[in-house]
Amino acid sequence: MTQSTAAQASPPDPAPLPYDEIGGTPAVRALVERFYDLMERDPRFAQLRAIHAPDLTPMRDSLTGFLTAWLGGPRDWFTQHPGTCIMSAHRQIGFGAVETRQWTQAMAQALTDTGVDEALAEKMNAAFSRMGQAMQGD
Ligand code: HEM
Repeated sequence: MTQSTAAQASPPDPAPLPYDEIGGTPAVRALVERFYDLMERDPRFAQLRAIHAPDLTPMRDSLTGFLTAWLGGPRDWFTQHPGTCIMSAHRQIGFGAVETRQWTQAMAQALTDTGVDEALAEKMNAAFSRMGQAMQGD
């Protein structure tokens, strides 16, 4: 009996998850820590800092959890925030183009500073830019 090549071939390996490519939760945590450190310390991001709460500790945890799930890792953030739409939540804050630009610039720098693979960083930056445009109120 002859079998087709397709039937004999094993299925292709699934594409690696961005979560694994970046290096899992420790790498996501390092990225987020760098992002908020830049927001706190670098005057280029002062207008963005000004619309956040004085204590960024809860944000450091929340963005780490969100990005972990968004990149394909454990989805605890969504269990802890049932029904939360991050896009609607941001539209309600009502920020503008300056804050959006500062957010995407700080994140792009954090991706570089923490050594995220360039091709992955490029994809993440493109996605964050699209999300930021859709989140802003003007
Ligand atoms: C592009 C411009 C953006 C601005 C100006 C912005 C601003 C903010 C602000 C003001 C908060 C609330 C902080 C506080 O309560 O002190 C927040 C929370 C948050 N943002 Fe953004 N954000 C932006 C983009 C994004 C993007 C692209 C993501 C995800 C990829 C994101 C994820 C989050 C998360 C997870 C929280 C915490 C929500 C919570 O725990 O309640 N943000 N953001």
